[in-house]
Amino acid sequence: MTTLQQLYLVFCLFFLLTSPIISNQNPQPYVIYMGSSSNGKGVHGATAIAKLAHLQLLSSVIPSQDSERIYFLHYYSHAFKGFSAMLTENEASILSGHDEVVSIFPDPVLQLHTTRSWDFLEAASGIQSNYEYQNISSDAIIGVIDTGIWPESPSFKDDGIGEIPSRWKGVCMEGSDFKKSSCNRKIIGARYYGIKEFSVQSKSNSNKTHRMTGSPRDFDGHGTHTASTAAGATVGNASYYGLARGVARGGYPSTRIAIYKACSLEGCSGSVILKAIDDAIKDGVDIISMSIGMNFNFESDLLHDPIALGAFHAQEMGVLVVCSGGNDGPDPFTVVNSAPWMVTVAASSIDRDFKSTILLGNGKIFQGSGISLSNLTRSNTYPITFGEEVASDFTPFSEARNCFPGSLNSRKVEGKIIVCTSTDPSIPRAIKKLVVEDDKAKGLVLIDEAEKDLPFDSGIFPFSEVGNIVGSQILNYINSTKNPTATILPTTETRRFKPAPIVAYFSSRGPGWLTQNILKPDVMAPGVAILAATIPNKEEGSVPNGRKPSPFALRSGTSMACPHVSGAAAFIKSVHHKWSSAMIKSALMTTATVSNNIGRPLTNSSNHTSNPHEIGAGEINPLKALDPGLVFETTPIDYLNFFCYYGISQKKIRVISQTNFSCPKHSSEDRISNINYPSISIGKLDRNQGAKIVRRTVTNVGSPNALYVSSVDAPPGLVVKIYPTKIAFSKNSRRASFRVLFQSKEASRGYNFGAITLSDDRHVVRIVFAVNID
Ligand SMILES: *[C@@H]1O[C@H](CO)[C@@H](O)[C@H](O)[C@H]1NC(C)=O
Ligand SMILES: *[C@@H]1O[C@H](CO)[C@@H](O)[C@H](O)[C@H]1NC(C)=O
Ligand SMILES: *[C@@H]1O[C@H](CO)[C@@H](O)[C@H](O)[C@H]1NC(C)=O
Ligand SMILES: *[C@@H]1O[C@H](CO)[C@@H](O)[C@H](O)[C@H]1NC(C)=O
Ligand SMILES: *[C@@H]1O[C@H](CO)[C@@H](O)[C@H](O)[C@H]1NC(C)=O
Ligand SMILES: *[C@@H]1O[C@H](CO)[C@@H](O)[C@H](O)[C@H]1NC(C)=O
Ligand SMILES: *[C@@H]1O[C@H](CO)[C@@H](O)[C@H](O)[C@H]1NC(C)=O
Ligand SMILES: *[C@@H]1O[C@H](CO)[C@@H](O)[C@H](O)[C@H]1NC(C)=O
Repeated sequence: MTTLQQLYLVFCLFFLLTSPIISNQNPQPYVIYMGSSSNGKGVHGATAIAKLAHLQLLSSVIPSQDSERIYFLHYYSHAFKGFSAMLTENEASILSGHDEVVSIFPDPVLQLHTTRSWDFLEAASGIQSNYEYQNISSDAIIGVIDTGIWPESPSFKDDGIGEIPSRWKGVCMEGSDFKKSSCNRKIIGARYYGIKEFSVQSKSNSNKTHRMTGSPRDFDGHGTHTASTAAGATVGNASYYGLARGVARGGYPSTRIAIYKACSLEGCSGSVILKAIDDAIKDGVDIISMSIGMNFNFESDLLHDPIALGAFHAQEMGVLVVCSGGNDGPDPFTVVNSAPWMVTVAASSIDRDFKSTILLGNGKIFQGSGISLSNLTRSNTYPITFGEEVASDFTPFSEARNCFPGSLNSRKVEGKIIVCTSTDPSIPRAIKKLVVEDDKAKGLVLIDEAEKDLPFDSGIFPFSEVGNIVGSQILNYINSTKNPTATILPTTETRRFKPAPIVAYFSSRGPGWLTQNILKPDVMAPGVAILAATIPNKEEGSVPNGRKPSPFALRSGTSMACPHVSGAAAFIKSVHHKWSSAMIKSALMTTATVSNNIGRPLTNSSNHTSNPHEIGAGEINPLKALDPGLVFETTPIDYLNFFCYYGISQKKIRVISQTNFSCPKHSSEDRISNINYPSISIGKLDRNQGAKIVRRTVTNVGSPNALYVSSVDAPPGLVVKIYPTKIAFSKNSRRASFRVLFQSKEASRGYNFGAITLSDDRHVVRIVFAVNID
């Protein structure tokens, strides 16, 4: 098979995997989730007995002639209980009636949150903070659940980092290509997950000891990229073949990394993600970073979402979980990972831009976007033509125009620069590039309004991407001349690009499907063309002649934004050891920036002021987050109340939490707005009804004696009032509650956005709100 065929196969597989699972009576993997582990807090005594009981539970539903299925694919016992196993639909349904079982669901396949799978890209990494905090030793540990790691990358050197924290209980698993020495004081742990891990428990196969094959090594690059963005060591003079040259580093260079390889290029199975979360909590990480999610189309209910369930128990154990919000923007209701106990991250551009200039034979010059390492010069001009004019026989023009695989006549393509459109989004640009490259074209000009701001890495193949306006000018030129010619110059980089940041077009937008009474995403961070470590890419066509494979790559996606926030959280944790994960999240949110580098409000990619469904509280500002003044301490009780309001029965909540928690008397969905969250969302406010009041409690983490004054920034017609208007703190009163009243007399229908601000002479605590007027 050619690379093109291979890629196309993987591409088709991708759609198969993301389709709903077809139900039948053949056994398939299921996740059986059984709530909190009562021995969770460090006590591991009862697990053998519990495991036996769970095996008995399994054998009670699996007929004896199928006893070889009585084993665990994965077994969860540290922070929560449960397992995955091969079950028929019928067996699963019987198990679901069991008192101990909270939920049972077919093992879902989740996707890595890079943009459109192979469209990876560029730029400057790290958070521009740190210098004055350089010498604080960091014991913060980030668990990265991803595709593994390339430990030889210079980003994972451990020079100057202190001993591994003594509380660390993790392991460095070996494989044929991964030695104990692959771990160090930077990569302090590495695990991977073989499918047959727990099969030795099977009765009839008691002798069969399945060996796990594999290793924590990354063969995709995604995990290496996210881990080095979150916590990579400082590497000077890093670049992608000279582009984006500068210092590459994580949020805080001495932060430790623990690797949990739960994904491959095909995706990540939910049962393995749960296992990785369970392990990470047991190992002792402070933060879990996951650039993974369900497709928003299939994000089912809370009790069937492995990330939400795992993150809930991580939160119980004091671990902060940071997740990417997804790359399905710019439509509303596309954000995923939207449970309140996670930090959900949107992606923005940075102040760096990559252009590939197109020169036409008539002297016209256009700046397209792209990252191409081609060696063309002004003097290498080639004929330029439109895909539909070089269509193969019997191919619909619509397919040739979009450069579908097999739609072009290779004899007519050879030696030319081809123009393709993207009117049909089903074929990603990586495929289009391979289509014309396979036919020996000299270059590709892609017309794509949607993705034009997301520079695509085409390796050494000349490539440039333009919007509809420029695209039609190029097509007009082709149509108006007998022998149209063009060339595409290698990429050049613009630094200090303005305005920046801008909300990335692809970044998923709120509100979330889960509930409209929690504002999502929470924050925004850089996710377009991010420079970070990668695996050596030896693929033909990706390395310029005579060069060694680059140890760094430019990639885009909320996948790249998420580890920026994980790194920032580790930075805060390093300075404020005692802060809870809720405090860190609150600090990042209430101090986030809402203006760009020209001092104007942040915008989206169509130059409109961005709203909280695009950016959450705003772009993170780690330095400011060190001193937020006030924080919202969302508690485990808040989240149990959330379950009640969300509609989960008290009986199930008691199993989930292993407590005798009682739901509040009045548990309706609109009460979710009242949980003590660092932002406010009201999913429905009736114009004809009275006011809606939400309550919040803040904790003073600044100097003990402080007086905060409130102010409101609300759209016309929406009445927003805060009681009391002034809040005083002293040594003896660190916490204070306030109420916010919303009334919508004349506000326009749909979502209205704004912010309330509490400020003293040193701090500005900004709480964004979204109110849906009905
Ligand atoms: C950090 O420590 C080094 C050596 O101890 C010292 O030279 C340097 O000035 C310190 N940096 C800061 C910002 O305090
Ligand atoms: C089980 O394994 C042992 C040694 O590993 C071997 O001697 C024995 O024959 C095996 N039994 C079965 C039933 O395969
Ligand atoms: C950075 O690396 C390039 C080669 O990749 C080299 O030419 C250049 O001198 C280096 N610059 C510095 C400041 O080390
Ligand atoms: C550019 O690179 C290609 C592929 O590596 C090579 O075949 C070609 O000769 C080079 N052209 C020039 C003008 O250097
Ligand atoms: C090129 O010109 C022909 C005839 O003038 C017209 O039918 C066709 O739509 C034009 N194609 C493009 C891409 O503008
Ligand atoms: C974006 O909008 C602002 C005003 O809203 C305007 O001044 C600016 O020129 C616009 N920028 C672009 C690139 O259209
Ligand atoms: C930008 O925001 C405006 C106003 O909310 C909206 O109409 C437009 O669709 C948004 N553009 C993108 C690309 O999200
Ligand atoms: C049940 O609740 C009571 C008080 O409401 C508490 O004292 C007791 O410890 C709880 N029992 C369990 C098992 O959590």
